[in-house]
Amino acid sequence: MADPAPSKVHGADGRHVVLVGMMGSGKTSVGRRLARRIDRPFLDADEELEARTGRSVRAWFEADGEERFRKAETGLLAELLSDPVPAVIATGGGAVVTEANRRALAGGAFVVWLDADAGFLASRIRQKDHRPLLDGGVEVTIERLLAERAGWYREVADAVVEVGPVHVWSSSPKKDLSGIIAEILHQNGLGPAPPGDGGEEMRA
Ligand code: S3P
Repeated sequence: MADPAPSKVHGADGRHVVLVGMMGSGKTSVGRRLARRIDRPFLDADEELEARTGRSVRAWFEADGEERFRKAETGLLAELLSDPVPAVIATGGGAVVTEANRRALAGGAFVVWLDADAGFLASRIRQKDHRPLLDGGVEVTIERLLAERAGWYREVADAVVEVGPVHVWSSSPKKDLSGIIAEILHQNGLGPAPPGDGGEEMRA
């Protein structure tokens, strides 16, 4: 009897790959690139929330406050994780703050923490209008949030990838974060060996 046809697109392992980490760690740009590499759909949780509710993250914070935003974020994350088509999902930096999200992430996704130090993160974040939590000042807020959250990122992570200046400015494929993560996924039985290609700059 012939072998069953291999899953055409997603490989044998159907787990979602979820990127967590602070604002400025590059979850969206790395996630988009990773999804292309491993041939999966890419979903950015904040973008999905905005598209599905017709309101920006800033509008959520301003109209309803952070607590309601967090509830909406939790509902959305549960929805994304329940989709049977395995995707690469970039979460908002604060997703790990909510216990229900941490439990949901422990329920089968392969979670990668993009870890970076506060100075590096702050240097990459320009004060942009779409991040209401930074209204009080970038450096001091990033330091405080990272101190509060590092333990949660560690708790949910199946793998930790260090993000630093070398990934932003190097064009070496070996230092390209999406390639590094694809290799980690391969080592964990989540995908084919990644073909090398030229690195691209990571954007905030
Ligand atoms: C937040 C991070 C943002 C967004 C919201 C809150 C946080 O997402 O969800 O402004 O609490 O760290 P990014 O990490 O994609 O900027």
